[in-house]
Amino acid sequence: MDLVSDCKISASACSPHLGSIAGKCAALLIFALASRTVFVLLSPGLNGQANNDASSVLIPDLSLVGFDDYGIRMHKFLEVPQIVWGLNNQKIAFARACLTARMLNRTLLMPSLSASLFYKEVDLLQPISFDKVFQFDRFNSLCSGFVRLGRYSELSNKTATVELVKGSGRKWTVERDIDQLKEFASDSLDNHEIIRIVGKNPFLWHDHWPVGDYGRVFECLVLVDEISKEADRVIDRIRVASNGESESNAGVVEPVPYVAVHMRIEKDWMIHCKKLEQRLNIKEICSSKDEIMARVGKLSGLRPPTVVYLAVADSLLEDSSILAGWRDGLVPFEKKRLGVDVIYQKYPYLIQSAIDYEVCLRADIFVGNSFSTFSSLVVLDRTQKMLRSGVRSFCGEDVKWPSYAYNIPGELDGPKRWVTKMNDSNLQAISYGSNDISC
Ligand SMILES: *[C@@H]1O[C@H](CO)[C@@H](O)[C@H](O)[C@H]1NC(C)=O
Ligand SMILES: *[C@@H]1O[C@H](CO)[C@@H](O)[C@H](O)[C@H]1NC(C)=O
Ligand SMILES: *[C@@H]1O[C@H](CO)[C@@H](O)[C@H](O)[C@H]1NC(C)=O
Repeated sequence: MDLVSDCKISASACSPHLGSIAGKCAALLIFALASRTVFVLLSPGLNGQANNDASSVLIPDLSLVGFDDYGIRMHKFLEVPQIVWGLNNQKIAFARACLTARMLNRTLLMPSLSASLFYKEVDLLQPISFDKVFQFDRFNSLCSGFVRLGRYSELSNKTATVELVKGSGRKWTVERDIDQLKEFASDSLDNHEIIRIVGKNPFLWHDHWPVGDYGRVFECLVLVDEISKEADRVIDRIRVASNGESESNAGVVEPVPYVAVHMRIEKDWMIHCKKLEQRLNIKEICSSKDEIMARVGKLSGLRPPTVVYLAVADSLLEDSSILAGWRDGLVPFEKKRLGVDVIYQKYPYLIQSAIDYEVCLRADIFVGNSFSTFSSLVVLDRTQKMLRSGVRSFCGEDVKWPSYAYNIPGELDGPKRWVTKMNDSNLQAISYGSNDISC
């Protein structure tokens, strides 16, 4: 698997406005987050009422008039271009398409993802249907009231499709982009059953939404059973390997903690990150193999022997030196040494990447690079897991699901603790990386 392009693309597409709009949006966001909580708390009740008991006589069935239970219209659709590039670029692009549809109060027609990574040769971008990777019905039930996915078979085809051509170039500002969306939400254009957005892939659209809204969409993405079972198999192998390393536990198979390191040191990444360091005038983007090993070795609270799963690009699987040089007590594995490369080989790039993502997501400790989209989304997901489990002080000592960035020095020369700022006003830091991480 090649996780390189994930970031290579991000960089070439990187817009120069790195400044943040932080402060003024804060209050609004907190309000939005708070009201959403209330909304979620109320939802199950409303749902039950509308569907099951006698009170449904009093509450009109909104789906009959074309809204789902909480107001996303079911008979107005948004269509977007095929979603392309790395797994995590695709997730971001998909969420952006969902949030655009939400703004237009429309159902998003289930888009095509791309199974392969040949981002320059458009004919090689094998389309793969969203529901081959993520559960369609689960998505709609988890995201109910927030965003909605529809199928082409739901279309009536009674009105002509209207096209929304995304502007581009330097003069196409965030403001012009939002004005265009508002125009398409207006009465005259709103009659059309389908608004089709034409132009570049949604990852490159201007962003208008806070991190919390993206998080809300990501939470609804649940892998189909086939893929999540493969991830289970890989994780089982890691835990068995951990047991094998632990003499006192010999023969006993029980969950043993493991560390996952998303190790970006392959040649393409090194070339890319050096350029990025120059352009952004930041020294903390590239980490050498030795720096990563040294920082991970200084993680506090590890009980040796600990298995370290290395999520690396395929090109590094032939390089046995990545398994050497770890401090005593850390036992490194990549998919080849673990014997799970056969599992991965059955699948195209996108699925391989999705499996590795799960392995990193579920690790007891995750260490990544804060300039990688892949690492950044893993950390966002882990931050949400912490939130859901009721953690208050994310950066405290004994929290579950801690994450770290090895490219930034932290306490005692170890990697720096890392949580996602869920109240950030846009996704810039996650899409393109940042060395300004919380904790
Ligand atoms: C986000 O939350 C953190 C921690 O609660 C706070 O320090 C920060 O000021 C907040 N930022 C914004 C933009 O609201
Ligand atoms: C969508 O439109 C319906 C009817 O106009 C409205 O009741 C609902 O609140 C809207 N939903 C959103 C998310 O704007
Ligand atoms: C409208 O067209 C789509 C395919 O473009 C098709 O799946 C759907 O069944 C059509 N709807 C009707 C009512 O014919």
